[in-house]
Amino acid sequence: MVTHYSDATPHIGSPRMTVIGTGYLGATHAICMAVLGFEVLGVDVDPVKVDALASGRVPFFEPGLPEKLREALDTGRLRFTTSFDEAAAFGDVHFICVGTPQQPGSHAADMRYVDSAFSELAKRITRKALLVGKSTVPIGTAARLTELVQSVSPIGSDLELAWNPEFLREGFAVEDTLHPDRLVFGVASEWAESELRRAFRPILDEGTPLVIADTATAELVKVAANSFLATKISYINAMAEVCEATGADVNLLATALSLDDRIGGRFLKPGLGFGGGCLPKDIRAFRARAEELGVGQAVSFLAEVDAINIRRRTRTVDLVRELAGGRLNGVRVAALGAAFKPNSDDVRDAPALDVARLLYLEGAIVTVYDPEANVNAHRVYPDLDYADSLEEVVTGAEVVVLLTEWDEFRVADPFVLGDLVAARRVVDGRHALDASRYREAGWEYRALGRPAVAATVVLAQDARDAVA
Ligand code: UDX
Repeated sequence: MVTHYSDATPHIGSPRMTVIGTGYLGATHAICMAVLGFEVLGVDVDPVKVDALASGRVPFFEPGLPEKLREALDTGRLRFTTSFDEAAAFGDVHFICVGTPQQPGSHAADMRYVDSAFSELAKRITRKALLVGKSTVPIGTAARLTELVQSVSPIGSDLELAWNPEFLREGFAVEDTLHPDRLVFGVASEWAESELRRAFRPILDEGTPLVIADTATAELVKVAANSFLATKISYINAMAEVCEATGADVNLLATALSLDDRIGGRFLKPGLGFGGGCLPKDIRAFRARAEELGVGQAVSFLAEVDAINIRRRTRTVDLVRELAGGRLNGVRVAALGAAFKPNSDDVRDAPALDVARLLYLEGAIVTVYDPEANVNAHRVYPDLDYADSLEEVVTGAEVVVLLTEWDEFRVADPFVLGDLVAARRVVDGRHALDASRYREAGWEYRALGRPAVAATVVLAQDARDAVA
């Protein structure tokens, strides 16, 4: 469903909002709230980000978001600042969207940015207001922060705190924000609930399901959802390992499982596994927090989910080595993709880039091409070579390995590519290529969890996962 809110006018009595942290989550939230008709002030400590957004430029790749930013700026309802004083004076409802990265040398979340954003704002707030956390945090954070902010705020317990987890997917950020599957409000008072209802009125008016919960449950919803999704992906990838040992075909298996409504086909795509800024760090932080709470055993399976996922990377390297004749030293490999998934330029914990790195460490001459993520990838791994096009990356390659399933790679003609490579060998790390057609074009085609002679099996795509 596509709804156009461009005619939205500020509702009389609507809360004025600030969004603290204008990264992926915050920038999208700020822009969408302004499009929905609210007065919004985006706040970030980084003046470069603030300047970019204020001048209409989204500093990361997200389909549809630049258009929404332009639309929001044109209404005059969206502004950006680096000033917490301005934010405290402006907002009735403050959304905190700063990052919670994995701590170096530990699995736990680094809470420095969250703690600092909440307390810097709280110190400056002089009238009743609601602070709403959206960042993914360890369970119990809202309770801890409530004490912290009320102790530093001039208005004490009149400053209230709520938790509103966010489930947006990169590549679908606008759609997921404007038309979420559900809203979750973690609140400690009726006033906080009514403020959040006012803040999300246009979305609730569409009939979006709402779950009102305590703050601990709201925090848990986010990590529980991401853990479930990670588990589903690792489950099918574990089945791929069993397939490899038995000659079975994981794509046929996934298709048959997906036709059971109770299981469903979403997040059941086998391949190189999950990465990105959320799933890997969230399952690790969840385990770390569960240990602290004395319930580590309840989620100890997440260690296995993580291990299965990481094994996909080494298994993909094994397959490339096998196809190259048993050794990688000096072998020219074309790596198609660097981003953690298509339609994103994000290389955080990207399986694709990790495979490229592992191949390089074994002595392969690796050239990477990603339609959007080359710049970010180069920043992380400057030692790898980067090409500017698909044609360039495959030219002279002895093995091609597909690592991120961009459409550009799916639709490429294996006959045309076959004329450019030094040897027609392809490892399909994402089960995205037409195996039969590659074989027709004379390629040796291999994919994890599939017999060496397997024909094409197209995994059903859910419309909700298709990029418009
Ligand atoms: C995820 C959650 O989906 C979202 O709700 C949450 O708010 C943030 O984390 P995102 O990180 O954008 O979103 O990516 P997502 O689309 O969930 O994909 C995660 C990873 O899983 C990608 O690396 C993707 O390639 C992989 N994946 C996904 C599979 O390997 N198989 C699948 O079937 C689905």
